Amino acid sequence: MSRVAIVTGSGRGIGKGYACALADHGHRVVVADRNEAAAKATAQEIRNAGGTALPVSVDVADPGAVEGMVQATLAEFGTVDILVNNAALFGDDVEFNPTGWDPLEGTMEQYRRAMSVNVDSIVYCCRAVAPVMKAKGWGRIVNQSSAAVYYDTGNLYSLTKLTVVGLTRLYARALASSGVTVNAISPGMTVTESILNRFAGEEQARAYIAEFTASHVPMGRPASVEDLASVLLFLVSDAASYVTAQNLSVDGGWTNRI
Ligand SMILES: NC(=O)c1ccc[n+]([C@@H]2O[C@H](COP(=O)([O-])OP(=O)(O)OC[C@H]3O[C@@H](n4cnc5c(N)ncnc54)[C@H](O)[C@@H]3O)[C@@H](O)[C@H]2O)c1
Repeated sequence: MSRVAIVTGSGRGIGKGYACALADHGHRVVVADRNEAAAKATAQEIRNAGGTALPVSVDVADPGAVEGMVQATLAEFGTVDILVNNAALFGDDVEFNPTGWDPLEGTMEQYRRAMSVNVDSIVYCCRAVAPVMKAKGWGRIVNQSSAAVYYDTGNLYSLTKLTVVGLTRLYARALASSGVTVNAISPGMTVTESILNRFAGEEQARAYIAEFTASHVPMGRPASVEDLASVLLFLVSDAASYVTAQNLSVDGGWTNRI
């Protein structure tokens, strides 16, 4: 069955992979990203492949903009069935600087921005779509967490992603009797621009990734976007109708060894 899906942060990386996989499976996709050019490019790619996509420019940390994103979805497609909360400040976001926040001296501006993009946005997006999903008696919400919930990354990132798991449980319970499931996916290391951009060059990045996965990940390789997208497709399908409030690790066994 063709559904309408909003995927935040789908201008590039994992979110783009999610949007393309949903479109490949016949769903109509809202490509939502604060980077308007990237959102348009992903939507065009989907259309070129024969799919249906609407690009929307949105900062998910702005509740008014999130409301606008959902209104644009309803205006174009008449409904919303699937919400994927994937957008987050992560690797190369200078405003977040995830490798450098000191809990004793780091600025509260950084703290608030990280919490607002990675955590508050999920509250805004869930609240904005919930009335539509509840009225239909069917809905799927998938929140992007991280393997970083299982260890301390030494910065705000783990904190925000742990909170994503807590919010997943809260919204799963709030929507459980409405036919709406809410789950999280916790990917292991996945090679995207935001990982590659942390290094001076691609060669150094690939060498680090190879060394890291060889020593930490039992499967000996990073996740591909396809590894993650296949799990997303399961969670948003009718096959997963009795699965809710779960945080599903997709990490090649990495966190089983921590
Ligand atoms: N890559 C990994 O190894 C990995 C591992 C675990 C979890 N994750 C999580 O997966 C998600 C995607 O990761 P990625 O590697 O593709 O990241 P990425 O940085 O490559 O992509 C993130 C996308 O989100 C968009 N975005 C950022 N802030 C936004 C905002 N305020 N409003 C709207 N859009 C915004 C960016 O423009 C970008 O297109 C993130 O939630 C990240 O924490 C990634």
